[in-house]
Amino acid sequence: MLLDRLKTETRAAHDRIEADLDLLRPNLSRANYSALLARYQAFFRVWEPAVAEAIGDECFFGPRRKLHLLDQDLEALGVEPLAGAPRVERFATRAQAMGSLYVLEGSTMGGLVIAAHVRRTLGVSGPGARYFENYGRDAAERWRAFRAALAGISTPQTDAAVVAAALQTFEILHRWLAPGKAVAHG
Ligand code: HEM
Repeated sequence: MLLDRLKTETRAAHDRIEADLDLLRPNLSRANYSALLARYQAFFRVWEPAVAEAIGDECFFGPRRKLHLLDQDLEALGVEPLAGAPRVERFATRAQAMGSLYVLEGSTMGGLVIAAHVRRTLGVSGPGARYFENYGRDAAERWRAFRAALAGISTPQTDAAVVAAALQTFEILHRWLAPGKAVAHG
């Protein structure tokens, strides 16, 4: 099963990025939170068009876009966008783009936990926290629908490439969002 493979084979990468971002720490500051959002925004600026192109179906991908949420958050917090961005290659196949999208769609689950923490510790919700609030009360249903779409593209020939794309996306995100930590892990 592709969904089981994705979950199992990316678990270590998930736990590493979760631990290194350490977003649920009690002393999370507004400055740290703002700086991280600026890095997410720079990632989405290059990643989102690459996924859109490879998926080639705006009916499917359009409602899953999140760059505009990050734009709103930065503006609400008065944060300047970063000049730089990580290097993201074009996806050779739609299946690879779906593997990469798995990482960011799955992160909406943790996003809700992070949004609740940001609201409690920094008093930020709505504009300023829209990226992590993401789909709100629809998140579980949206995640279920995305998993169904993933299951629908599973084939014995392409599943390994989907998993590899997800792992690579975790790797790029880890290096970009937690730059100080990436070195320590080799
Ligand atoms: C403080 C940080 C984070 C927390 C607390 C967290 C928490 C969680 C939780 C509770 C789930 C399980 C949801 C469920 O199965 O119902 C989950 C799933 C997931 N998270 Fe995170 N997460 C965090 C960060 C991230 C990040 C930074 C990413 C990637 C950008 C990410 C990607 C994923 C993915 C892909 C899944 C789906 C796993 C699967 O069931 O296949 N998470 N996360």
